[in-house]
Amino acid sequence: MKNALSFSLADFFFNDSPDVLSPPSDFEEWMNDPRTQECFGFFEQQLLSAPKSSTEILSNLEGKPKKVINLTSYNYLGLSFHPEVIQAAIEGLQKYGLGASGAPLLSGTLDLHAKFARMLADFKQKEDCILFSSGLAGNLGIMQGILRKGDLLVLDEKCHKSVIDGGTLSGARMQFFDHNDTEHLAQILDKNKDKRILVAVDGVYSMDGDLPNLPEIVKICDLFPDVRIYIDEAHSTLIFGANGRGVAEYFGLEDKIGISFGTLSKSFGGVGGFVCSNAKIIRYLKGYASSYSFSCASSPPVVAGLIKALEIATRDSTLRDKLWENTHYFKKNLQDLKLDLGNTESQVIPIIIGSSGELLFEMARDVQKKGLFLLPIDFPAVPATSRRFRISVSSQLTKDEIDKACNIIEDSIAKRLKKK
Ligand SMILES: Cc1ncc(COP(=O)(O)O)c(C=O)c1O
Repeated sequence: MKNALSFSLADFFFNDSPDVLSPPSDFEEWMNDPRTQECFGFFEQQLLSAPKSSTEILSNLEGKPKKVINLTSYNYLGLSFHPEVIQAAIEGLQKYGLGASGAPLLSGTLDLHAKFARMLADFKQKEDCILFSSGLAGNLGIMQGILRKGDLLVLDEKCHKSVIDGGTLSGARMQFFDHNDTEHLAQILDKNKDKRILVAVDGVYSMDGDLPNLPEIVKICDLFPDVRIYIDEAHSTLIFGANGRGVAEYFGLEDKIGISFGTLSKSFGGVGGFVCSNAKIIRYLKGYASSYSFSCASSPPVVAGLIKALEIATRDSTLRDKLWENTHYFKKNLQDLKLDLGNTESQVIPIIIGSSGELLFEMARDVQKKGLFLLPIDFPAVPATSRRFRISVSSQLTKDEIDKACNIIEDSIAKRLKKK
């Protein structure tokens, strides 16, 4: 294929094949091109041990196991392998077995699920909570459960794909406002006073690590008495706020949030999603969110482990403090290298490279060769003008690991950017 690297997944969405089980013919050609295969080689590299700060992967580039410093997992607080979490999960497994074996409304709700949902509602200071088997399922469920045709979902343009897909599923109209542009948001709300409206923002934007301008967003929404705010605190729960309740706590605006979403797959170290709000809408959601009512309840050992994870993360601030210490140290070192980190204010730190996909993948090969698990993020996941790497800082990283990582980043990324 001529210049395979000039194409991306954005080019093959529409399918001209008469058979729905055949991808577009040029997609096959693109995927089979050695240059595409080299780029896709970064995906689905297998981890051979827990997602710790130093771990081992089966390197697709080298075709063999490779020890790496891990900057790519969402295990921000290291809770997925915390000894107390593992012990709690083992006990949950022994008592309840592997699966819940039922939908939550029928036989799938165990005392564990009810206890955990109560703990989460109390933690988030909301009346009630509903659990989902994944974060994505939670976002699909909220939007599809509460929005109807004729409603309007107003989203920041950088909201996560699961919120957008939930909006599509709901049949509500969706309108995006420019990232953190509150004037644009105000214009949209002003033009739609006759609609039922939900405004959606992320707590931490997952590709950029920046925060919503919540104080201004709340100020605008307060001008419209029926407009409600939804926040996706996937990357901010257990990390932001004096008690780790998230970005809404950090800004002192929790009472202004109508519905608060979190995932259990990131700082909690497990898997699942949860939504906290007033008790009436949670009860309603249980009847109308298909990803809740038509899907098996989450695995009991996972829930048992998550209960312990929440206890550990909230009994004191040790892990959170360590994460912030590491984040500040890492960020300072990267700033000294004069790298473009966008507007990150969190443990999600992008290193923005620019528009060259070839340069991005050349750097990606080099960092991995030198022992860093740091993946390239390409268009269409991010704009074609700001291809990047994305660091997920963990509380588990040692200073020595951060120093080593920064040396590799300097050699493989910063020096190449200087030459450009
Ligand atoms: C902002 C945001 N919301 C929701 C999700 C979905 O969560 P999960 O991966 O737990 O399904 C993600 C996942 O990366 C995310 O970044």
